[in-house]
Amino acid sequence: MLRDGQADFVEILIDNFLHVEPEDMATALDGAPVAFHIMHSRFLERTEAQLAFMASRIRTMARELRPFYISDHLLRFTVDGREVPFLPELDYGRTYDLVCQRVTSWQEQLGTPVLFENYPSIFDSGLEQPAFLERLFRETGAGLLFDVSNAVCAHRNCQLPLAAWDTLLERSTHFHVGGYEPSSEAPFVSLDLHGSPLADDTLDYLGRVFSRTSTAATISVERDNHVELEPWRADILAVRARWEQHA
Ligand SMILES: [Fe+2]
Repeated sequence: MLRDGQADFVEILIDNFLHVEPEDMATALDGAPVAFHIMHSRFLERTEAQLAFMASRIRTMARELRPFYISDHLLRFTVDGREVPFLPELDYGRTYDLVCQRVTSWQEQLGTPVLFENYPSIFDSGLEQPAFLERLFRETGAGLLFDVSNAVCAHRNCQLPLAAWDTLLERSTHFHVGGYEPSSEAPFVSLDLHGSPLADDTLDYLGRVFSRTSTAATISVERDNHVELEPWRADILAVRARWEQHA
């Protein structure tokens, strides 16, 4: 897709490549612009000493590959010390001070402001997410990597109005979008599994997002399951069509 001009850049899930030499990454990418996405830093749970190796490796990669953003996730990997198979949302009412301090030190370790992705909320506590992020970004200098379909999932699951993101959207320039699917068991919720085509409500909202942001810089079309060229290409072309309608 890069060769055919359908994709303009690559967002690399960088923690999958920390063992690769940066020069080899650069050779493989052959000059394609890149962004970094971090999935498993667990920066809210690990100590600074534990994070030091990953941070130094990512900084080395960044010096070679010059990503135009580094992004990470605000979520949990453990509950009361136990590993869980599902990555739960933060408890926004109780964790602000800890998250603020951790975001500040993770950005210092990485040597750059970091973009954090919004969570596809399932429970009503997700209603607190936009206000929590607005305060966090104001106080830490971090920013939002706005995942359009995660906002749609939160809207479907806990009725968080899409308009709740408007203030954050005005300052956002980097976006994600992907497919969601219903959970396999009742009560059925929408999960960001990134294995199916973009849904109609996602594409409709994407049009609204584009109409509010004259400064959109990038959008990554995510595929984690059923990673096949043709359906992925179809999603990218659908996103391009929405962009062109609003450009
Ligand atoms: Fe995403």
